[in-house]
Amino acid sequence: MSAVERDDRQSRERHWQEARDRLDGLPAGGLNIAYEAVDRHVVHGDGDTLAFRFLGEDGPPEDITYRQLSERTSRFANLLADLAVPAGSLVFTLSGRNPDLYVAMLGALKACCGVSPLFSAFGPEPVRQRMAAGHGRVLVTTASAYRQKVAPVRDQLPDLEHVLVIGAGADTLDAPGVHDLAALMERSSKDYEIPRTDPEDIAFVHFTSGTTGMPKGAVHVHAACVAHSATGRSVLDLQRGDIYWCTADPGWVTGTSYGLVAPLTCGVTCIVDEAEFDAVRWYGILEDEHVSVWYTAPTALRMLMKAGPAAHEGSDLGGVRHVCSVGEPLNPEVVLWGQRELGLDIHDTWWQTETGAIMIANVPGLQIRPGSMGRPVAGIEIALMQRDAGGERLRDAEGRLVPVAGFGDEGEIAIRTPWPSLMRAYLGAPDRYASCFADGWYLSGDLARRDEDGYVWFVGRGDDVIKSAGHLIGPFEVESVLMEHPAVAEAGVIGVPDPTVGELVKAFVELKGGFAPSEDLRRDLIALGRRRLGAAVAPRSIEFAAHLPLTQSGKIMRRVLKARELGLLEGDLSTLGSTP
Ligand code: WT7
Repeated sequence: MSAVERDDRQSRERHWQEARDRLDGLPAGGLNIAYEAVDRHVVHGDGDTLAFRFLGEDGPPEDITYRQLSERTSRFANLLADLAVPAGSLVFTLSGRNPDLYVAMLGALKACCGVSPLFSAFGPEPVRQRMAAGHGRVLVTTASAYRQKVAPVRDQLPDLEHVLVIGAGADTLDAPGVHDLAALMERSSKDYEIPRTDPEDIAFVHFTSGTTGMPKGAVHVHAACVAHSATGRSVLDLQRGDIYWCTADPGWVTGTSYGLVAPLTCGVTCIVDEAEFDAVRWYGILEDEHVSVWYTAPTALRMLMKAGPAAHEGSDLGGVRHVCSVGEPLNPEVVLWGQRELGLDIHDTWWQTETGAIMIANVPGLQIRPGSMGRPVAGIEIALMQRDAGGERLRDAEGRLVPVAGFGDEGEIAIRTPWPSLMRAYLGAPDRYASCFADGWYLSGDLARRDEDGYVWFVGRGDDVIKSAGHLIGPFEVESVLMEHPAVAEAGVIGVPDPTVGELVKAFVELKGGFAPSEDLRRDLIALGRRRLGAAVAPRSIEFAAHLPLTQSGKIMRRVLKARELGLLEGDLSTLGSTP
């Protein structure tokens, strides 16, 4: 290691140590996210500050102060103890955005249980896969979500002991281990002392999709909140007194890391909208709730853009001080629209489930270059690593990764390890985890370029994973469900470009002998997808093909399907693969 490299490493270490020193640590020792996010503020005399304002679909908002949040999360932690749920168990959540969901997540962290949030628009199959892989012992959900998504697969979830039902209807579920959450909360004590928590104890498991196989559970630990609070300040510019709105759902990593952990560790007030997207409603929230910092996503911004100026006519967005975006490419047109129509600079940020926290960003004060994701944040060093013509990582004679030679060259984003919020494992998949690292770098799988001033420009993903409305979808999961249909011999799933949501899921289907393409069959397959996978994952369109292109080893060549879809390849699909 050169002297410069050593200095760089020391300065990164110092940065993270200073960020750690700004947190309190537990009175009992160690570091616990829920203490830093909630109880600490009460200890420091800020218990009356609003932690959350929940905007219901209709009716008055529900406000929760840091003190109330502390008490309610303590009740939840006690309730887990009363149910004899041991520390280290995984608590899954499956519900729309509501106060109990957030209370359960933070309460489980207090009890040193891991939390694994599931997206409420998942169908039974994604729910089953994730809960089975995580050996979920506890599920916090609603009666209707349980009935639709869990009851059909409950017999395949042998580890699930307790189902804590938010709202009414627990008594209508005829299933083992069902409890009425409100009743248990009322009975349990509001005093709880968080036990000593090792900063390396598991805090969250976020499932994320890959090209092959079932979703991987990225394991994150309590120490991650060091990176969340630091980037909350340095990237989102969160300051005392801010009213902050993160539009991401806590069923995904952005909605927990930056919808819960980062803002609360910074002591600000979070707005949570329980309703679905609506352009007029959203502009109304920004103005009426006096939102000062807004973290949202390109799909949402493009939907606002599409709604036109009428949707914000008369709105005063002057109170919005800082806007950030994440999750998918932020097209330059959207940045320019924000400046022109809303008078707001939209700051793009880049990270992944695996990195746990923002790695590359347009930080406040940095001159925005529309189309660029910005520069690596403090404490983070990146490099772009070369790939060969076949898309494989290039190695030098000693077997080491090779950084790109010059500015503007395309390479895979690699991040120097370690940093506090880096995932610590993929649940049950050590080889897959190990394959993400080489020579002291974490390899992201994303391709990018860098200019002379260090700005990073996103090029694309290096794999077949689909990004639709900011959500990652694994083609293999979708293909597996379609293959359950008796008429389907082979299925290949890709993302097709869409101007609003980025990509839409499309399936190419080869039928078994004796079956012929028909509108009925197409409808049947679409319905199967929606029923088993849920609206967030199911294919939107189906194309029948006589033969799908396969590799010699029998794998679907999704790239060929994609090239065909984009009009880069003509002709009969069956002749495009490597098999005759
Ligand atoms: C993938 C990670 C972002 C955290 C929550 C989602 C894509 C992310 C950007 C951006 C272009 C982006 C990448 C990345 N992505 N941010 N600013 N510009 N693409 O995490 O579900 O693990 O998705 O989202 O492809 O690898 P995730």
